[in-house]
Amino acid sequence: MAVREIIEGIYEVGAIHWDRTVFDELVHIPDGTSYNSYLIKDEKTVLIDTVDPEKKDVLFENLEILGIDRIDYIISNHAEQDHSGSIPFVLEKYPEAKVITNPKCKDFLIDLLHIPEDKFIEVSDGEEFKIGKKTLKFIYTPWVHWPETMTTYLIEDKILFSGDFFGSHRAASHLFVKDEYKVIEDAKRYYAEIMMPFRTQIQNNLKKLENLEIRYIAPTHGPVYNNPEIIINAYKEWVSPKCSNKVLIPYVSMHGSTKVMVDYVVDRLTEAGIEVIPINLTKMDIGVLTMNLIDATTIVFASPYVLAGYHPAIVYAVYLVNALRPKTRFIGIMGSYGWGGKGPDQLKSMLYALNVEYLKTVMIKGLPREDDFRLLDELVEEIKKRH
Ligand code: FEO
Repeated sequence: MAVREIIEGIYEVGAIHWDRTVFDELVHIPDGTSYNSYLIKDEKTVLIDTVDPEKKDVLFENLEILGIDRIDYIISNHAEQDHSGSIPFVLEKYPEAKVITNPKCKDFLIDLLHIPEDKFIEVSDGEEFKIGKKTLKFIYTPWVHWPETMTTYLIEDKILFSGDFFGSHRAASHLFVKDEYKVIEDAKRYYAEIMMPFRTQIQNNLKKLENLEIRYIAPTHGPVYNNPEIIINAYKEWVSPKCSNKVLIPYVSMHGSTKVMVDYVVDRLTEAGIEVIPINLTKMDIGVLTMNLIDATTIVFASPYVLAGYHPAIVYAVYLVNALRPKTRFIGIMGSYGWGGKGPDQLKSMLYALNVEYLKTVMIKGLPREDDFRLLDELVEEIKKRH
């Protein structure tokens, strides 16, 4: 436990989870994470978001360090349990506290945590709320990454408490961003894994925040930004419609034939000056795929058939790509088979959420022969023409 001060009277009192490696039983977080909770001392004492219930003792110890014997308001910017899960415990210890949030978030908190309805104060989009000398302003920023998400802006000190928005899964003892490159990489992974499908809504949210003067962005995961421009600009780039001259090749190969095809295509695209990223799905972190989905123009899925269909590793990747709805414009399918199986239509039908043009499919029998390489050349030519 450790209390970290942003500026006088405003503290980070949450918990660092150094050894957490998976989030939502889905997302790999190689750098751990933190559940940031912020305390503002004014005439009223305000807690902004809480922590994962697994770490609630750390929150309470931090509040004890600061000698907090009364909390007037708990602001809930986001109902997901890694930030809201300790609210019932805080309410138990500080029974006078009221939960301030928007109506949608209130409904979630009632459903997910059974918080009694009379504990809430509802606030509307743009509403201001005095807590003494300071004023909070609530700005709805939906779909980062749930429908109820909002941010809280501390007007006098120009601090944006942004919830998951702009966050990064990084456990770090320093409060403020120390290594900008690393934090942006972590934030990029975070954006890719949970925010990417909502980039249109995020564009709108960024516009809503445009007129705020922001000195600090204090998210619920990872370090606080004392140079907010770096993360705002990164988000602007990620949500923009622009793609890079980049091809991703998520692949699986059981006995090497598909790998021969992948290597061949990688070499030809490299010769053509096109960035290409082969991703061995059974060996590499799936985060490498998701991060590169942010701006890849083309994806070529490569897999053999097994058990009368595509390999489960490629099916998982295809399912994930469809769920994340990247900006990708072209998709190819290639691979090797021994005696047939369900064809590429199986994969295409799983990509229903994407608006893409399909490139030449190259499924060949066994180890590729000269004619097969010619088919791969044709696929490469199609990619070159479109990049
Ligand atoms: Fe960090 Fe969506 O919770």
